[in-house]
Amino acid sequence: MILGIETSCDETSVALLERDGSVRVNLIASQIARHQPFGGVVPEIASREHLQHLFPLVERALGEANVPWSDVDSIAVTSGPGLIGALLVGVAGAQGLAYGLGVPIVPVNHLEGHIYSPYLQREGAAMRLPERFLSLVISGGHSAIYDVRGSDIQQLNRTRDDAIGETFDKVAKFIGLPYPGGPEVEKHGREGKADRKRFPFPVPQFSKEDSLDFSYSGVKAGAIRLAREHKVSVEGDPQVLADFCATFQEALAAQLFDRLDSVWTRLEGTKPAEVALAGGVAANGLIRERMQTWGEARGVLVRLPEKRYCTDNAAMIAFAGLQKGNASDPRRVIARSRV
Ligand code: KG4
Ligand code: ZN
Repeated sequence: MILGIETSCDETSVALLERDGSVRVNLIASQIARHQPFGGVVPEIASREHLQHLFPLVERALGEANVPWSDVDSIAVTSGPGLIGALLVGVAGAQGLAYGLGVPIVPVNHLEGHIYSPYLQREGAAMRLPERFLSLVISGGHSAIYDVRGSDIQQLNRTRDDAIGETFDKVAKFIGLPYPGGPEVEKHGREGKADRKRFPFPVPQFSKEDSLDFSYSGVKAGAIRLAREHKVSVEGDPQVLADFCATFQEALAAQLFDRLDSVWTRLEGTKPAEVALAGGVAANGLIRERMQTWGEARGVLVRLPEKRYCTDNAAMIAFAGLQKGNASDPRRVIARSRV
C-alpha cells in the first residue's frame, strides 16, 4: 500500500492506494472556510492548518481503510510546486513517518499528480495509462498542455499571465462572490444566458507572434471593466449577475479551446489518441461538456477526471508516485515552491 500526502495549498489530504491504483481511502480536510474571510488563501494560515490536521488525518485514513501501519510500504508526498510553508509541513511529516516505518519516500510534483488523475477510478483499479496522451491541466495555479509518454512529460504551452482558475477566482472576488470563485461562477452562470454582444469579453489572439500560450489577463481586465459598467455584483440584479457569469465562463472556455486547437493542429507526426483533462477547473460542467464535443469532432478519446479527483487530493499524488516508482532517501527530499 502507498500512502499519499498532499499539502501544497489549502487542502490537507491523505490517501491510501493499492499497487494497482485502487483508492482505498482519500480524505480531504478543506481549509476553505478559514481563508474565506480574506477572499483568498493566506499562506501562514494554510501552514498552521496543515500542521494541525495532517497527523489526525493520517490516523483516520488508516482506521477507515482498516490498514495496519505494517502494510504501508512507501510514502508519496507533494514536494512542489506550491506554498513553501504548506509544502514543508507535508514533506517533514512524510519524512518523520518514513523514518519511523523504515519505508522510502517518493517526492511528487503536484502537476504530475493532476496529469495522471483522469485515470483514477471511483472504484477498483486505475485505468491502464495509454502509451501516450495529451494532458490539459487547468487549475488555480496552472494552465498548461503536456504531451505525456509514460513518465516523459513534455510541456507544449503554458499561461503567460494568470491561470484559468485564478481568473475565475479574481473576477468572482471583484463581484463579491465567495472564495473559491470557480464553482460560484458556474452556479450563478447556470441561471443566466451567455451574451457576447452585451458583454464583449476580449479573446486574446497571438497570430502575429504565433504563440501557443494561454493568456487570461485580458479576459480578467475585460471582465472587471464590464462588471463595473453593468454594475454586476452579488448585491445587484441577480439576472445581470447570472448573465455576466454565463458569458464570462464562455469567454474563459473559448480561450481554452482556441489554444488547445492551435496546439493540436501544430502537433507533428502521429497525434495522441487520448486527451485527458485535469485540475480544479476540470470540475466545471461547461468545460467538461465542451471537451467531450471537442474530442468527438476530432475522433479523440476524452478522459474526464472524476470530480473528486479534480481539486487537490492525495489520491492523485499517491497514483503519480506509483508511476514514478523511484523512491528517494527520506533525507534527500526537499520542498520547493517552484519546480
Ligand atoms: O487544482 P486545484 O484544487 O488547486 C490548484 O492546484 O490550483 O484548483 C483550484 C481551482 C480554483 O481556482 C477554483 O476556483 C477552481 O479550481 N474550480 C473551478 C470549479 N471548481 C473548482 N473552476 C470552475 N468551475 C468549477 N466548478
Ligand atoms: Zn492542484
